[in-house]
Amino acid sequence: MSLDKNTTVGVVGSGTMGSGIAQIAATYGHDVYLFDAFPEQLQKSEDGLVGILNRQVEKNRMTKDEVDEILSRIHFVDHLNDFKTCGLVFEAIIEDLDTKKDQFARLEAIVPGDCILATNTSSLSIASISSSLDKPGRFLGVHFFNPAPIMKLVEIIPGITTDESVRNEVKSFIDGWEKTTVLTTDTPGFIVNRVARPFYGEALRIYEEGIADPATIDWAMKELGEFRMGPFELMDLIGNDVNYKVTETVFKEFYYDPRFKPSFAQKRLVEAGRLGRKSGIGFYKYGKTAENPEPVKDRELGKKILYRILAMLINEACDAVFMNVATAEDVDLAMTNGVNYPRGLLKWADEIGPSTVLDWMSALQVEYREDRYRPNPLLKRKVRNGELFYES
Ligand SMILES: NC(=O)c1ccc[n+]([C@@H]2O[C@H](COP(=O)([O-])OP(=O)(O)OC[C@H]3O[C@@H](n4cnc5c(N)ncnc54)[C@H](O)[C@@H]3O)[C@@H](O)[C@H]2O)c1
Repeated sequence: MSLDKNTTVGVVGSGTMGSGIAQIAATYGHDVYLFDAFPEQLQKSEDGLVGILNRQVEKNRMTKDEVDEILSRIHFVDHLNDFKTCGLVFEAIIEDLDTKKDQFARLEAIVPGDCILATNTSSLSIASISSSLDKPGRFLGVHFFNPAPIMKLVEIIPGITTDESVRNEVKSFIDGWEKTTVLTTDTPGFIVNRVARPFYGEALRIYEEGIADPATIDWAMKELGEFRMGPFELMDLIGNDVNYKVTETVFKEFYYDPRFKPSFAQKRLVEAGRLGRKSGIGFYKYGKTAENPEPVKDRELGKKILYRILAMLINEACDAVFMNVATAEDVDLAMTNGVNYPRGLLKWADEIGPSTVLDWMSALQVEYREDRYRPNPLLKRKVRNGELFYES
């Protein structure tokens, strides 16, 4: 069965991501079956979606009829029987390999033989989940970002067993939902969660070395780099527990490559329960009476901070292209649409000049003699050949 506007969509897991994916599919006219193993979660999801969509009416972005129609298309179900009519199923349950494998094995016994199965995993390998399926050719990763209805980016991740036709069909289907899709290989962190690591990791390193405090580093990245949020504000927003866990997973999965080394400063915050906004304190204090230090607005210091973090980010973007994780265009699209970077990192490298970026990396390598700061071979090659990442 090929995917089209009449395709019935199944979503397993009605938490943050599953509810968002169901909302998108119903908005684009599909009948949706949204399943959760826990009835209270299903109710929470329904209440949440009614609230979100009704707010669209209050803001005059949708009519009451449109919202009622969308909601009528979403069926909140506590069993999988209805999934036998689905042409495409998204899984968005807890991030646990055995639970996901078990879920897919049970799904495969119910859905039609040609139903496409997708996981929204952030950190598990597509290959490992696919091993529970009889027909792994129909399975792939489709990674939405939070909040799914708002964030434009969707990473499409074929595993080694995914049929090429399935990959292409899903990609154009999701494009039809006005999303920006990028293709990536089944490697740790895919594009965004890999290339973004130095934004946090190098900021933490600068802080641990005592070069600047979080407020100053955040100021430099926002004021001089035009990033929407500073690394420490963002870690507090994501939750230091969540952010630390992603870093630790990527570090382990990359066989302990020092580029991805987690930080003690962040680990200690997690251990102390200082998780960020959600616990009222992280790198910053939150609440009406909270007082936080002012940044040191020294532009020379700010530039040093920005160039060091940016060099590491561009070096990581180069590595993603060098290792065929994605094209330069897709890496740039991923970072501007998935984490709202002000510019694509490789376009930015062209504007700065690859030789300047290489100089920044080389200076770090000479200073520290750590493998963490090795310039990527693609960056060196571009400089040697006098080439840019983009033609013009
Ligand atoms: N939250 C994010 O920012 C984000 C972004 C991208 C991808 N993801 C990934 O999406 C997936 C879901 O994340 P989330 O943030 O929506 O989690 P969540 O905790 O909000 O929701 C998970 C839902 O799955 C349900 N569930 C658990 N076990 C189940 C089972 N065996 N069968 C059916 N339902 C089950 C839970 O009741 C819950 O409603 C994870 O794989 C996560 O890594 C999360």
